[in-house]
Amino acid sequence: MGVEVVVEGLTKSFGKQTIWRDVTLTLPPGEVSVMLGPSGTGKSVFLKSLVGLLKPEQGKIVINGVDLVRCSEHKLYEIRKLFGVLFQDGALFGSMNLFDNVAFPLREHTRKTEAEVRRIVLEKMEMVGLVGAEKKLPGEISGGMRKRAGLARALVLDPEIILCDEPDSGLDPVRTAYLSQLLIDLNAQIDATILIVTHNITVARTVPDNLGMLFRRELVMFGPREVLLTSDEPVVEQFLNGRRIGPIGMSEEKDQATMAAELAHREAGHADGPPDEDVRGVVPQLEPTPGLPPRGAVRRRKDRVMSILHTLPPEAQQGIIASLTPEERSHYRVMADAGDRTGPITPSPWPRQGGVL
Ligand SMILES: Nc1ncnc2c1ncn2[C@@H]1O[C@H](COP(=O)(O)OP(=O)(O)OP(=O)(O)O)[C@@H](O)[C@H]1O
Ligand SMILES: [Mg+2]
Repeated sequence: MGVEVVVEGLTKSFGKQTIWRDVTLTLPPGEVSVMLGPSGTGKSVFLKSLVGLLKPEQGKIVINGVDLVRCSEHKLYEIRKLFGVLFQDGALFGSMNLFDNVAFPLREHTRKTEAEVRRIVLEKMEMVGLVGAEKKLPGEISGGMRKRAGLARALVLDPEIILCDEPDSGLDPVRTAYLSQLLIDLNAQIDATILIVTHNITVARTVPDNLGMLFRRELVMFGPREVLLTSDEPVVEQFLNGRRIGPIGMSEEKDQATMAAELAHREAGHADGPPDEDVRGVVPQLEPTPGLPPRGAVRRRKDRVMSILHTLPPEAQQGIIASLTPEERSHYRVMADAGDRTGPITPSPWPRQGGVL
């Protein structure tokens, strides 16, 4: 099973510029999580911090009992072997063909024979749909192919933690659907802990078990997918719906006056880009391709989420309960009508800022 990643009070700055502060979250073992956030909010910096490529000034990142922020170089090297990382730009070596690029971690970190290396590389390349492109150089293929080659390379060491920085950027909608399925299938097969950064709302709604969002140098929320998908936080709603109106501006966050002016303009009947299609709400999660084992994370997550159900906002509670089968409802002793209630199930304070769930 994949390992748990515990992040506590993490703060990262470059000089005087604080990228984010006090980020606290747990990536549950073997579950798939997605991190959203406008451009420049430090999502890539977060992933690079998780693998120890960047050093946060404060806080902890604990994996297998080791705090990556403070451990020795030797320990860090050991922990890094647990990771498979797909960087935003693919980070392929330009002078090596795809085969050698994908084989690189195997040749570097293992003593496998060339025959074994070949078998593993071809298996991963087939998985991402790159059979026949082994001899091509990164400069000779499309951006989407480079992404997939980067993903194949991230998978060769059978990682326990997979980090993917915008795996879908530059892919067409059909390839993106295949990629989403691939990540879910992969999770079913190897039960790795997966964190995906994406701007793709369909991916965010259908792939992960957990969803989070970075904004204004903070983690706005992180927890079961149902919480963010039913949230009425303005920044979350604006992001999920791709609207101009809301706290997110073109370069930085907007001031109050601009927001008020925009709202008045809209309320006066002026359109805000494409018609509103409110994407709030929980939709069914992708399942592994028939024939594959079920995802172990699903059962574990259900137990975990049901145990904290009373701490979640009412709309998220309803979304979770609505997705239970009748057997699960009786297993968790959920009242038959609970999913259809309109009022709050159990009123409780909900930690809006980066609550650990
Ligand atoms: N090595 C670095 N040195 C100095 N500043 C950096 C460094 N890396 C990133 N930054 C700054 O950190 C901020 C966050 O960058 P990051 O690449 O993490 O954003 P992002 O959320 O991944 O954006 P996008 O969605 O566009 O990929 C930016 O202002 C960037 O300029
Ligand atoms: Mg980025």
